Amino acid sequence: MRISVIGCGYLGAVHAACMAKLGHEVVGIDVDELKIHTLSAALAPFFEPGFDELLKDVQEPGRLSFSTDISAASGSSVHFICVGTPQKEGENGADLSHVDAAMEALLPHVKPGDIVVGKSTVPVGTASRLAEILATGAPGAHLVWNPEFLREGHALEDTLSPDRLVYGVADGSEDHAAVSVLDEVYAAPLSTGTPRLVTDHPTAELVKAAANSFLATKISFINAMADVCEAAGADVTRLADAIGLDDRIGRKFLSAGIGFGGGCLPKDIRAFMARAGELGADQALTFLREVDSINMRRRSRVVELTRELCGGSLLGHRITVLGAAFKPESDDVRDSPALSIAAQLQLQGAVVTVTDPKALENAARRFPELRYEADLDTAIAGADTLLLLTEWQQYKELDPFEVSSGVAGLRILDGRNVLDAAKWRSAGWHYRGLGRP
Ligand code: UGA
Repeated sequence: MRISVIGCGYLGAVHAACMAKLGHEVVGIDVDELKIHTLSAALAPFFEPGFDELLKDVQEPGRLSFSTDISAASGSSVHFICVGTPQKEGENGADLSHVDAAMEALLPHVKPGDIVVGKSTVPVGTASRLAEILATGAPGAHLVWNPEFLREGHALEDTLSPDRLVYGVADGSEDHAAVSVLDEVYAAPLSTGTPRLVTDHPTAELVKAAANSFLATKISFINAMADVCEAAGADVTRLADAIGLDDRIGRKFLSAGIGFGGGCLPKDIRAFMARAGELGADQALTFLREVDSINMRRRSRVVELTRELCGGSLLGHRITVLGAAFKPESDDVRDSPALSIAAQLQLQGAVVTVTDPKALENAARRFPELRYEADLDTAIAGADTLLLLTEWQQYKELDPFEVSSGVAGLRILDGRNVLDAAKWRSAGWHYRGLGRP
């Protein structure tokens, strides 16, 4: 099939390459010339495991091309909208200007029978509004809402073999003309048994908001338990192991630590609350305000614990922060709890060095006032205190005996509860976890 993908950020670039991998002929379109130039050279503009190789793999046979010219969408029968929906400045709601602009620009290139497929995360009601615009501007075309559930760091596998596919169509019916077209697009994952659900537009939009809210709630729940464990002298990691064995609860997303960040969970729960407010259903989501507060409190809690660990004052204390990305296997620092903690510590007088295997360039752009060191040994050398804030494998594997020789003080705060506390203590370290004795 001939497919266009509008918006080549994280979601769009991965989606375009994966659709080409599934055998389609794809053009990725974006207004950002540098991004298109980079992608056209088969280089990934961000770090995602396997993405560089995939780009080469699908560009060599000519199945994937990129353009800044929206008219490149002409001739495609399926058009995916994958542009960003960031949080509005100073407000909780989502900024839909990119979605609206993409739709507007696309309209002259949509033929009767084409389908326009929204993948961006949008407030409920957006799809129906866009469907009306499409009906007027490109009669005979259909709008489908097909939310994306990929996780950064696992984006390729999540797109090529997703947990489920959700198609939101105007009448919510399996017989809608667009359903068979999308089935053809996703023929490969469907043939391996990926569940596919057909819903109406608002349900499909809400599936995404609900999924991310649930995940955020799970993380804040366990972080709240971490606070109680800390007060009671209990261990939240063992508590999570034990409750996670109940199938109804599950162990995934029950890792207590410095909280969630990134370009999705924080902004999505806020946009969901804002939209529920507009719909008069704000009371239903007041719990998300607490989920957000618990999450933000993690960051100040870590700053306080670090001050305690440093003997009551951060002034002049040399702290090395291990990890800048919001999660491992990513170079994304949007709303990264690790970086926001590093910046707070620096503001309060500590001398902070940040290291990360992939995210330093992005981190330096966001917080130029922090010191950055790519080499782990150099970053650690002379540190009074270490803070492990993003659980990259190489940090999880650090040997406390080996690290001891380079540092000035044997103090470590494990912000992700991934180190073996007993091992570090037996090597002479003052170890602090979160919600662990
Ligand atoms: C999230 C969702 O997991 C995806 O399903 C969704 O498609 C995506 O948002 C999106 O809306 O586009 P992502 O932001 O890539 O994906 O990252 P997650 O793996 O969800 O992690 C989010 C944050 O939660 C990270 O900061 C991570 O460190 C933190 N986290 C995760 C915890 O603190 N504890 C956990 O147990 C799990």
